[in-house]
Amino acid sequence: MTEKFKVLVTRKWPKKVEDKLLSTFDATLNVEDKPLSEHELIEGMKTYDALLPTVTDPITDKIISTPDKKVKIIGNFGVGFNNIDIDSARDNNIVVTNTPEVLTDCTADIAMLLMLGVARRGSEGEFHVRKKEWTGWRPTHMMGTKVTGKTLGLIGMGRIAQAMAHKSHFGFNMKIIFFDPYFDNAEIIEKFEATKLGSIDEVLSQADFVSLHCPSTKETRGLMNKETISKMKKSAYLINTARGDIVNESELVEALKEKKIMGAGLDVYEKEPSVQQDLINLKNVFLLPHLGSATNETREAMGMRVFDNVMSFFNNEEPKDRVV
Ligand code: DGY
Repeated sequence: MTEKFKVLVTRKWPKKVEDKLLSTFDATLNVEDKPLSEHELIEGMKTYDALLPTVTDPITDKIISTPDKKVKIIGNFGVGFNNIDIDSARDNNIVVTNTPEVLTDCTADIAMLLMLGVARRGSEGEFHVRKKEWTGWRPTHMMGTKVTGKTLGLIGMGRIAQAMAHKSHFGFNMKIIFFDPYFDNAEIIEKFEATKLGSIDEVLSQADFVSLHCPSTKETRGLMNKETISKMKKSAYLINTARGDIVNESELVEALKEKKIMGAGLDVYEKEPSVQQDLINLKNVFLLPHLGSATNETREAMGMRVFDNVMSFFNNEEPKDRVV
């Protein structure tokens, strides 16, 4: 490549990937790791060939439709791309890519951590020790819920859900039930001895753990609310590693306060990074700060995936992970 394409990276990325970007492109990095303003993103659209945002950057129609824009590809660092106005990208002839596959296992690992953490009262126990409140082992101290052998209900059966099904079924002998009208792979269903159910309600009423694995779309926003939560068993737990706005957070908090369900393990929130104080005050929750893909290995692989997509685009090849 003779010409060096100009790429704008909106947040700090793993060093190895930043080095690769710097040696290949005319790359502007974000060393301070401060989110770019709308104005900076609009200016970026005018001067760069590629915009490389991440899942917390709202790439709105206003930004994408910038007059006299130069950007031709938006390489999102993340598998979810609900931060980008996809219709606007399509209308403006801008290619959008994401980073699937490479974060599947790590995100499913976090879903397992949430499930175990909330059921076995992991953070409560941790604080108990750290605050020097522990007075010793006793038969009725801090009892939780057994995970092994229970029923896991998956809403959505994409890659991350399948990885969680694998870990739960083979590692914890769990029964797998799911709702996903688009998933029909008989071989995989058979492998996990899973049961495909015809409605979300059936999953909610049968599962001991309900884990959300659908994207955030017009159809799924607020999917878990007062009414749907009330269909869950009183002894069940809700796990969310997908997107915060799939759950109506205030209605979940009410349900947890009123013990309508046993607890929740959450890695994502409706208005990240703000988390409702009422949720923080609850004991029957296990809360993480959107750590699904946060391992050195995975974050590096995600960055390399963006790099490959952008390289393909500039080489006039179809990017592997093109979503628009
Ligand atoms: C994604 O890639 O969509 C994740 O939420 C980041 O961990």
